Amino acid sequence: MNASASSYGRFITFEGGEGAGKSTQITNLASKLSAAGIKCISTREPGGAPGAEDIRNLLVTGETGRWTSLTEALLFAAARDDHLNRTIRPALEAGTWVLCDRFSDSTRAYQGAAEGLSPEAIETLDKLVVGPTQPDLTLVMDLPVEEGLARATSGEAGDENRFERMGTAFHERLRAAFLSIAANEPERCAVIDGSQSKADVTEAIWKAVATKFSDLAEAG
Ligand code: TYD
Repeated sequence: MNASASSYGRFITFEGGEGAGKSTQITNLASKLSAAGIKCISTREPGGAPGAEDIRNLLVTGETGRWTSLTEALLFAAARDDHLNRTIRPALEAGTWVLCDRFSDSTRAYQGAAEGLSPEAIETLDKLVVGPTQPDLTLVMDLPVEEGLARATSGEAGDENRFERMGTAFHERLRAAFLSIAANEPERCAVIDGSQSKADVTEAIWKAVATKFSDLAEAG
């Protein structure tokens, strides 16, 4: 498919461990797309709609062990359903591209691989909540765990750090999980080396986007 083939927007998700620099890169991609004449919005999970932002608060603050992995996955699913219905689907239907900071691969990696929730439970929820609104392209930002955690914890000292406090082994499982998702779905996913300079990461992302949506190749 290419952008001229339908009036639907494209859905691009950014995934990866903590401190991978996703938000800067989403901003950079949004301005490059706008410069290429493409209307896009940037959003995030958990959150991206008023109700989903309320649920976010339950997920990213407080004791590390406050939820079981299933409760946590259900809360993420509830937030995702709200986000999809209020923000993502209306934008895509209007022809707007959606750039999303984390989406369902984070549930697979965090609640699945790192916290041990079964793939069956996760895929059942995904079918119910996401259904056909799967990402067209997923950019997996990869970098060594120590580097990512150092970057994530050197930022402003807010209280939204429940997952950052989960420990290094947890974050190693996450990294392996994201790489394995990307290896299993090479059509949808591109792995981006997040330890390069910011400018090089921006360039690598643009290349992946232009490759996936070939009608953009001349626009960069
Ligand atoms: P956030 O501060 O947005 O993290 P980051 O800047 O790393 O994206 O907090 C979101 C946290 O929620 C993050 O640690 C990953 C986690 N998460 C899950 O565990 N499952 C999910 O499905 C999603 C979307 C996020």
